[in-house]
Amino acid sequence: MEETLVNGKFEERIRFWKNRVETLSAADLYFYNQPVEELHGGVRVLVHGREMLMFASYSYLGLIGHPQINAAAKAAIDEFGTGTHGVRLLAGTLKLHRDLEAVIARFKGTADAVTFSSGYVTNLTAISTLVGRHDVVICDKLNHASIVDGCLLSGAELLRFRHNDMAELERCLQRADAAALKLVVVDAVFSMDGDVIDLPRTVELCRKYGAILMVDEAHSVGVLGRRGHGIEEHFGLENAIDLKMGTLSKTIPSVGGYLAGRQDLMQMFRHASRAFIFSAALPPAQAAAAKAAFEVMEAEPERVEQLRQNAAQFIGGLKASGFDTMRTETAIVPVLCGADERAFTMVRHCQHEDVFVLPVVSPAVPEGLARLRATVTAAHTPDDIDRALRVFERAGKRAGVI
Ligand SMILES: Cc1ncc(COP(=O)(O)O)c(C=O)c1O
Repeated sequence: MEETLVNGKFEERIRFWKNRVETLSAADLYFYNQPVEELHGGVRVLVHGREMLMFASYSYLGLIGHPQINAAAKAAIDEFGTGTHGVRLLAGTLKLHRDLEAVIARFKGTADAVTFSSGYVTNLTAISTLVGRHDVVICDKLNHASIVDGCLLSGAELLRFRHNDMAELERCLQRADAAALKLVVVDAVFSMDGDVIDLPRTVELCRKYGAILMVDEAHSVGVLGRRGHGIEEHFGLENAIDLKMGTLSKTIPSVGGYLAGRQDLMQMFRHASRAFIFSAALPPAQAAAAKAAFEVMEAEPERVEQLRQNAAQFIGGLKASGFDTMRTETAIVPVLCGADERAFTMVRHCQHEDVFVLPVVSPAVPEGLARLRATVTAAHTPDDIDRALRVFERAGKRAGVI
């Protein structure tokens, strides 16, 4: 097998990645793909036998390992086993899926919801079901890769506007053929920068130009709004978004993705979206865990306020040390380093002092904007955050970032 692959252009491509990983590893600057061996309450993790403070988790409300959620997953395995009977459209739909979808619809204030086996696939299938050739899709330039891939897959004309620049969004809407079906897709909270889309203006423009609005709430559910219901709650808007997309893999400690909106729109996805028709249903344990997690969020709203306080302490402390945390307003906290090397060096110092944080470098972000992408959760204590801040400060000085 190797012999047939490793020739010509393929060989060059494989060698590029091999060299990159080997060069970084040799300099003790490679920190990706490290297995977490144990989870101690979600915030302390064992990596290579060392206990580290986790500052790279998407478990924003600290729900990983919640007893009620674990119990729901175990009960679902006892009742339904570990797999499904296939794809959702055919034999794969369990009562658990419909119960989960009802809970999501209630949580998001919509008539219905539909789930898929990952958030990534949800974006691919949603966009490519909604639009196709002869249609126009308009995106913020910092939208998540899964949105970009969905747009490319759809075959629609793709127009992109400068990040959160509403004048440019309007120009794109004006440029699009007036007769074309227009879809605007934005992240609620941007996954690399932690800032929030100007939803009120986006909604206004979509209505003015007759465009459908889809918002990816991967990083806003559990984070934005007094009860963590997301971006509409944050801005005090209701029914402003035509299609709400979210993941079950971040605040919700499971895996999967969902779409929420009008009942007839969800009906369309249940019959026309390829991920629903051609990919296996969420396993029972994951569906039950996700449903229980939404219920825990409703029952324990104090976690959202705790997260907000923790984010304020963390961002305030970093700024006081002289770091540039860019535009963040949420639990995703970029710590700008500049060159890729600086980000790698800073991470090395942090990890050597047992703070688990990771670098984001080019091409994931533009060259010169490499950063640590730290995340803070409701499960961190003020002492955890203080300890991490001291480590960040020492690491930042050693790496020449501050
Ligand atoms: C904004 C955004 N959308 C979609 C996804 C994909 O979700 P999942 O990891 O559940 O496939 C991610 C994942 O990181 C994300 O950050």
